[in-house]
Amino acid sequence: MSKMQKSLAVLLAVCVVFFGFVIVRIGAKPNVVKAASIPKDEYDPAVWGKYYPLEYESYMKNYDMSASPTGYGGSLKVQKSDMQPELFENFKGMPFSKDYTEDRGHLFALEDIKDSKRVGPATKGACITCKTPYIEQFYKEDGWGYANKPFAELWEKSKHPVSCANCHDSETMNLRVINPAFIEAMQRRGVDVTKASREEMRTYVCAQCHVEYYFEPETTRVVLPWDKGTKPDEMYSYYADKPNGFIQDWQHPDSKAAMLKAQHPDYETFSNGTHGKSGVSCADCHMPYMRKDGQKYSSHWMTSPLKTLDASCSPCHTQGSSWAMERVKTIQDSTWQMQHTAGTTIARAHEAIKKASEVPNVNQEELAKARELVRKAQWFWDIVAAESSMGFHNPDQVISTLGQANQFAYEAIDAAERAAGMNIY
Ligand code: HEC
Ligand code: HEC
Ligand code: HEC
Ligand code: HEC
Repeated sequence: MSKMQKSLAVLLAVCVVFFGFVIVRIGAKPNVVKAASIPKDEYDPAVWGKYYPLEYESYMKNYDMSASPTGYGGSLKVQKSDMQPELFENFKGMPFSKDYTEDRGHLFALEDIKDSKRVGPATKGACITCKTPYIEQFYKEDGWGYANKPFAELWEKSKHPVSCANCHDSETMNLRVINPAFIEAMQRRGVDVTKASREEMRTYVCAQCHVEYYFEPETTRVVLPWDKGTKPDEMYSYYADKPNGFIQDWQHPDSKAAMLKAQHPDYETFSNGTHGKSGVSCADCHMPYMRKDGQKYSSHWMTSPLKTLDASCSPCHTQGSSWAMERVKTIQDSTWQMQHTAGTTIARAHEAIKKASEVPNVNQEELAKARELVRKAQWFWDIVAAESSMGFHNPDQVISTLGQANQFAYEAIDAAERAAGMNIY
C-alpha cells in the first residue's frame, strides 16, 4: 500500500466508525423500559415518576404557561372572544358565549373544568371523561351509569388530572386507551384498538380525548359521531339522521335554529391531512425525542411543537426551523383570516333570520330553509374554529371547509330575505 492508500484506508475506517455511531444513536429506541412494579390502579404520576424520572420531569412541564410564538393557541388562559367578538352572537343562548378559554397544559385539566362558568350544579359526570385516569375506575364500577351521575361527585373522587395511567398499562408500560367512547366508536368503524400497532397507538392515545363528541339524550353517554366518516360533511350528515334521538346542542335565541356545538376535532382533522395520511403520529410532533445525560426519552410536555421546533420537525424535514416556523405561521394566518370572515358572516345570518321572522306574513318555508342553512354554516365554521391548531393539522381541508361555511351563511341570508320579501342587508 502506498502512503496515500494507507491514509485513505485510515480515513475510511474512521468514517465508518463515526457514522456507524451516529446512525446507531439516531435510530436507537429511547431508554429500554423495564416494567416497574407500579400497582395496577395507581393514578398518582409521582409514584410512576420514581421509576421514570425523565418522562416525569418533562410531564411536570405541562404547568408551563407561555404564549405560542405565532400568536395562536398557546398555553395562556385567555378568552377566545377577545380576538373573535363574533363568538358572542354565534354561541348566544349557550354557555360558550359566557366562557370559552384557550386550552392549556394537561396538569390544569381538573382545575380548569371546575372553574369554567359552563359547569354548574346540573352538570353531568360525562364531563369528567377526558380529564383524569379515574375514568377507568368509574366505568368499571358503573359502566355508562357514571355519565349520568352529578359531575361534582366524580370530580371530588378524581385526585389527579390527565396522567400516566390514561395512556400506559402500569405493569407492561405498553400504550393503552381507556376512554370507552373512543373504544366503542373505533369498534363501530371495524377497528379493534387492542390490536393496534405501536405507530397507531402513538396517535390513538391522544385521539381518545382530542375529538368531536356529543351526549346521548337521557343517558348522557358520550358518543363520537364517526359512523359515516370523520370529514366535516360526513359528521354533519351523521347528525342529520338524529342519532340516538340527538337533535341539537341548543336552540339559537335569535335565529331559532337548532344548533350543533363542535368540540376540538384534532384527531379527525389531522387524520385526513398530509401528515395523517403519511403515517406521522401525534407523538412525532408533540412528544419529540429528547436527550439527557446520554439517555434518550420521549418528551411528555404535550404542548405547541413550536416550543420544540427543531426536535419536533427536523427528524423528517431538513429545511431548518425557520422554514418550519414560517410555514406554520403562514398557514395559521390564512386560516385565521378566513375563519374570522366566515364567523362574522354567520353572526349576520343569525341576525337576518331574526329580523325576517319578525316580519308579518313571513314565508315559513323559506324561513325554515334559512335556519337549516345557518345550522350547516356554523357547523362547517365551528369544526375548524374549535380545532386546536388554527389550520396546521390539515391546511387544504380547513380552507375549503371555511369557504363552504361562508357560502352557506350567505345562502342563509338570501333565504331570510326571500322569507321576508325584502332586503335586510
Ligand atoms: C397522553 C398520553 C401519555 C401520558 C399521559 C403519558 N405517556 Fe408516557 N408515553 C406516551 C407515548 C405516546 C410514548 C411513546 C411510546 C412509543 O413510541 O412506543 C410514551 C413513552 C413512555 C416511556 C418509554 C420511554 C420513552 O420516553 O419513550 C415511558 C417510560 C413513559 N412514557 C413514562 C410515562 C410516565 C411516567 C408518565 C406519567 C408521568 C407518562 N408516561 C404519561 C404517552 C403518554
Ligand atoms: C384523558 C384525555 C386526554 C388525553 C389522553 C390527551 N389529552 Fe391533550 N388535553 C386534554 C385536555 C382536557 C386539555 C385541556 C386542559 C386545560 O385547558 O385545562 C388538553 C390540552 C392539550 C394541549 C394544549 C396544551 C397547551 O399548552 O396549550 C395539547 C398540545 C395536547 N393536549 C396534546 C395532546 C397529545 C399530543 C396527546 C397524546 C400524546 C394528548 N393531548 C392526550 C385531554 C387529553
Ligand atoms: C406534523 C406535526 C404535528 C402533528 C402530527 C400533530 N400536530 Fe398538533 N400541532 C402542530 C402544530 C405546528 C400546532 C400549532 C401550535 C401553535 O399554534 O403554537 C399544533 C397544535 C395542536 C394543539 C393546540 C396547542 C396549543 O398550543 O393550544 C393541540 C391540542 C394539538 N395540536 C393536538 C394534536 C393531536 C391530538 C394530534 C394527533 C391527532 C396532533 N396534534 C398531530 C403540529 C402537529
Ligand atoms: C415523522 C415525520 C414528520 C414530522 C415529525 C413532521 N413532518 Fe411535516 N411532513 C412529513 C411528510 C411525510 C410530509 C408529506 C410531504 C413530504 O413527503 O414532504 C410532510 C409535509 C409537510 C408540509 C407540507 C404539506 C402541508 O400539509 O402543508 C409542511 C408545511 C410540514 N410537513 C411541516 C411540518 C412541521 C412544521 C413539522 C413540525 C412541527 C413537521 N412537518 C413534522 C413528515 C413529517
